[in-house]
Amino acid sequence: MAFRSTLILRALALSLLLALPAAAAPPPDMPKDYVKAQYDEDLVPKFTLPDPLVLNSGRRVRTAAEWTRLRRPELLQLFQTEVYGRTPIGRPPGERWEVLSVDRNAMGGRAIYEKVRVYLLGRADGPKLDLDITLPKSRKRVPVFVMLSWHSKVEPQVIERGYGVALYDPTQLYPDKRDVPWEGSLRQQLAPPGQAGPRDDDWGALGVWAWGASRVVDYLETDPLVNRHEIMVLGVSRYGKTAGWAGAQDTRFAITFPVVSGTGGATLVRRGYGETVKAITDVFPYWFDKRFATYASHVNDLPVDWHELIALMAPRPVYIATAERDWWTDQHGQFLAAKNAAPVYALFGEKGMGVDEEPPIESPVGDYIGWHKRHGVHGLTPYDWARFMDFADRHFHRS
Ligand code: GCU
Repeated sequence: MAFRSTLILRALALSLLLALPAAAAPPPDMPKDYVKAQYDEDLVPKFTLPDPLVLNSGRRVRTAAEWTRLRRPELLQLFQTEVYGRTPIGRPPGERWEVLSVDRNAMGGRAIYEKVRVYLLGRADGPKLDLDITLPKSRKRVPVFVMLSWHSKVEPQVIERGYGVALYDPTQLYPDKRDVPWEGSLRQQLAPPGQAGPRDDDWGALGVWAWGASRVVDYLETDPLVNRHEIMVLGVSRYGKTAGWAGAQDTRFAITFPVVSGTGGATLVRRGYGETVKAITDVFPYWFDKRFATYASHVNDLPVDWHELIALMAPRPVYIATAERDWWTDQHGQFLAAKNAAPVYALFGEKGMGVDEEPPIESPVGDYIGWHKRHGVHGLTPYDWARFMDFADRHFHRS
């Protein structure tokens, strides 16, 4: 993945060099060939964030019940119409699955490995989702990370600490490329009857992928080895964005972990730092709906920003992970998004990050909104995993 991201970043560096005016002085230790963008904190414009607690009507919500009943659905709707596109359907009526194989002696006898195939529309020749599930041997049902990934490597410390991992490759549902024809795509197959073609608020790839993560939960809830109250979602980079959107929509995810998710994941787009709405919708327009790109030149008109996506998790815990040398994702913007989600957690009587200033490197903070910046570059490391499990241990009362 690091390799693939590097290639993508190189390609972007070239295209952005041509597209952007002279970039400001980079932070001192930034590599010379790092992707060009605005990285000067002094040049971040002044902006006003939309208030998550104010209804579209202008009235303020004052209680957790009002948030859940009135404001949460409004915000979900805004993220659907203006950003990711509409999720047209939940669990398809005909969905079923088959356990293809079980290995009770995986990872040197420490784990159980299951291969499961989900037939999304019931038909064996229809769209499907293949799951690689590795669960630690345990007398009790185990907590599980649903992980979106194109590789199937499981980090050994996860199993050692008593957590399971359910991996699924989102590109099995929808390819990660531009100009996928609507005809025959999953988007078409799941569209409401009578819809003849894509609409401006039709879901993009991130939406389809996030929907897939929810379908993984449909299966996991029935697995006798899994604790259905301790199912989490985790993704890195573009899949970190996906994990965020999945966790925002589906309250069955007990904890959400957007890792180096950046723009469209957990950072404030109004800052214009690192990857902008324009940059992301120029190169990856198909990740979002068509309307999102229309805000590229006036992001302040976007009725949402990403503190509100984090707030959609409330009161469920969320953990945002960033990396020191990953300016493209705007680490500080991810700190500010986390911080500005706190008022919604406060309605539920829960503390968010508990700090006002960005903490030093590798000093994780946060009660219900966890946050860290670790050493190193874009990606997922053993350090990240260890902190995620510390956080989950605390919330699941594991010792
Ligand atoms: C590109 C893209 C990012 C994305 C990343 C990835 O760098 O600009 O938004 O997160 O690819 O998914 O690796």
